[in-house]
Amino acid sequence: MNFELTEDQLLIREMVREFAQTEVAPIAAEIDRDHRFPEELIPQMAKLNILGVPIPEEFGGAGADNVSYVIALEELARVCASTSIIVSGHTSLATWPIFEFGSTAQKEKYGTKLAAGEILGAFALTEPGAGTDAAAGKTTAVLKGDEYVLNGSKIFITNGGYAGLYIVTAMTDPAAGTRGISAFLVEPDAPGFSVGEKEHKMGIKASSTTPLYFSDCRIPKDALLGAEGKGFKIAMATLDGGRIGVAAQALGIAQGALDASIAYAKERVQFGKPLSALQAIQWMIADMATQIDAARLLVYRAAWNKDNGLPYGTAAAMAKLFASETATHVADRAIQIHGGYGYTESYPVERAYRDAKVTELYEGTSEVQRMVIAGSLLR
Ligand code: CAA
Repeated sequence: MNFELTEDQLLIREMVREFAQTEVAPIAAEIDRDHRFPEELIPQMAKLNILGVPIPEEFGGAGADNVSYVIALEELARVCASTSIIVSGHTSLATWPIFEFGSTAQKEKYGTKLAAGEILGAFALTEPGAGTDAAAGKTTAVLKGDEYVLNGSKIFITNGGYAGLYIVTAMTDPAAGTRGISAFLVEPDAPGFSVGEKEHKMGIKASSTTPLYFSDCRIPKDALLGAEGKGFKIAMATLDGGRIGVAAQALGIAQGALDASIAYAKERVQFGKPLSALQAIQWMIADMATQIDAARLLVYRAAWNKDNGLPYGTAAAMAKLFASETATHVADRAIQIHGGYGYTESYPVERAYRDAKVTELYEGTSEVQRMVIAGSLLR
């Protein structure tokens, strides 16, 4: 067993850390306050290959492993959780399934553009009546001649309005349950497709979260991803990887909150000494650091499993469950350490507290992660 990062993993960490510090950190509070999607970061990240970290170089990616990818997401989330989910939604939920399930033509047409960051990707599974019960979607796709015609709607779609490609699930055989769901590649200019208003969220405010509408939306027959009826399995397999990304995001949020707490505890003087000299604060910091370290081991292990061809669905669920609950707890303690100042926008822990919560919700709630973990143990 070896806990050391490789030279390549360390180089990616250094590169993304520097980018996060110089380009993302200075705008993080502003884009959160203004609910502004950081469009200017997309070409910058594309240039550094941050939008295709685990995709092979021959397809325009960085050709790195999944451990490097989670390190990149962690470093981004350390300063801006919104930027981290923009990258994670794009990479894990839209780019990966094209390379895993797509035809050669789909890989060439979309995969390379996604991996190189020329377009952003989005993944659309959730519907107003189908959140945790992902199989309860009502959107339909009917084959008419050379086209599928989609009707219905999706909700809470990350990168909505900014994506150049949407992976959309729809029922092709409503009588067949999960085996009647198919996945499609929808371009934003498809006739009958539209994007709704952005949600006003508690956190990750700079990430775009929108509904999608399909009104007799026509897409070519060859926009089917994989085979008809495989859409649910494609979505579940995609989420197995996505959950590692969200876990890495949670880890980064927690690390950022700890960094801020340590700095504050050293500088803030009360009772004639810095907070860091008080045992009450020391113990909080010790607990936060220990939980973060445990979360990091779970996150890196899940990514390592994926890199090494091992099953990773349960490891991903454990990593997301633990890292997300760590993030909300650590952000809470970070505010406690900052006292009243932590409750203001003057310190980044207020944003970390709001951003952390969503990691317990999206790409499967903590309850879903427990269902997945228990299911793997009790079958
Ligand atoms: N990989 C491959 N196939 C899988 C799978 C996996 N991880 N999990 C299940 N399947 C297959 C099963 O083998 C089964 O196949 P068969 O029909 O051949 O037997 C089929 O899928 C149905 O499985 P289940 O009966 O277990 O499905 P279920 O309806 O009971 O659902 C669930 C189980 C775990 C609750 C699932 O619905 C789930 O994960 N729900 C949460 C959905 C979710 O995470 N949504 C987030 C959306 S994305 C997002 O958050 C937005 C964003 O942009 C960030």
